[in-house]
Amino acid sequence: MTRRPISSAELRSRESRYASRRRTTKKTKEEMKLPNPAELGIRLLENGITSADFLKIKMEEFNLDERDAFIVADMGDIVHKHLRWHEALPRVAPFYAVKCNDRRAVISTLACLGAGFDCASKNEINMVLNQGVPAERIIFANPCKQSSDIREAAVHGVHTMTFDCEDELVKVSQINPTARLVLRIAADDPSALFKFGNKFGASLEDSKHLLHMAKKLGLEIIGVSFHVGSGSKEPEAYVKAIYSSHDVFHLAKKLGFSMKLLDIGGGFPGCDNDGPKFEEFAARLKPALDLKFPRGSDDKRIMKYYLDDGLYGSFCTHLYDPEVVMKPISFKGSDEPMFESICMGPTGDEKDCIISTCSLPEQSSGDWLHFKDMGAYTVSTYTSFGGFTPSHCEDVIGQDDWQTLQTLPEDLRTLVPVDATGLSVPLSCCVQNS
Ligand SMILES: Cc1ncc(COP(=O)(O)O)c(C=O)c1O
Repeated sequence: MTRRPISSAELRSRESRYASRRRTTKKTKEEMKLPNPAELGIRLLENGITSADFLKIKMEEFNLDERDAFIVADMGDIVHKHLRWHEALPRVAPFYAVKCNDRRAVISTLACLGAGFDCASKNEINMVLNQGVPAERIIFANPCKQSSDIREAAVHGVHTMTFDCEDELVKVSQINPTARLVLRIAADDPSALFKFGNKFGASLEDSKHLLHMAKKLGLEIIGVSFHVGSGSKEPEAYVKAIYSSHDVFHLAKKLGFSMKLLDIGGGFPGCDNDGPKFEEFAARLKPALDLKFPRGSDDKRIMKYYLDDGLYGSFCTHLYDPEVVMKPISFKGSDEPMFESICMGPTGDEKDCIISTCSLPEQSSGDWLHFKDMGAYTVSTYTSFGGFTPSHCEDVIGQDDWQTLQTLPEDLRTLVPVDATGLSVPLSCCVQNS
């Protein structure tokens, strides 16, 4: 669809009208959560004006003597591509390679979309952190890093990083022994525009050796990465690399590493020109991922959670009656993969374990777990062991129940008979009606 070109004067007047409307319109809660585009260095076009309209307006603005080349970068294109990605590869979280285009607007748009970031240097890491992205959403995906970069990344909490050789393992073990390492394996699409196979990536034989070495150095390996080359034309190259990654996962798990991450690199087409489209790559990758890395396939892991209440607190009866089985209810979606889980209390006592085995979707720090039937012998038996504060208790009643309470017939109001002197006569047994 073509639109009538809009003159720059008309654009400016529309933009200022829109700006004043925004100033006077009461913002909804949703709107308030989003950052202001201007603060992100992004110009918000008025309703109905496309980036193509804006391009024409800018062209009109330049006079004959000032025809400097310029670029109009439409952040909406990133939003659409992000949605296309989610539609085609819902199990794969996109991590944007900052080296591709490090403009603030691009990084901040992706940050708003919740994407992760693939950084090659401390400067790229700082750029991303400066946009408010948490360190956990960054992978330092350069297999050969400078020592000072590893150090600075660690200071900022960036611990996930790739490697593909012995020297790098030794370097990381000396500078950041708590790093979460991802082994980059060799992968190659011979038809790719830019090939990395000769520069980066360990063979299967080398991978075996590196995993053993990491074990000896006490390092944590959490996954495998590959990159088939930029501008790939061959979806089968990814399938081959996914199969190789699976072999390395298998070796690593045998050595006791808890493998959680497969980084499938880049190389996907950025635009729909010649060659297979992104969706065609995705259609080939998805079944390979589902076959070799089925959902929940890493659920051999046992998740251990430390709750801020435990056996010395509201779960005290459990100390005396371990037969009671507590059932935590998670607020995560019911379609999430389930993991065998242990729920511990906060004190230092190893007996302070509320549930030694249960099935839960993966929880993060700050998530809530709900336990029902926490009335009798909970708040009354709290101990101060370990110096923990008793869980705060809110006593509430619903409107209907309050109504019932108030309108309760007199004969139902008291179960305990009262004698003439007004003293209650204890019964030998009471039934609590719940
Ligand atoms: C480790 C890594 N990940 C991702 C990318 C991005 O690749 P592409 O631009 O081909 O998608 C690169 C590019 O060099 C890379 O080295």
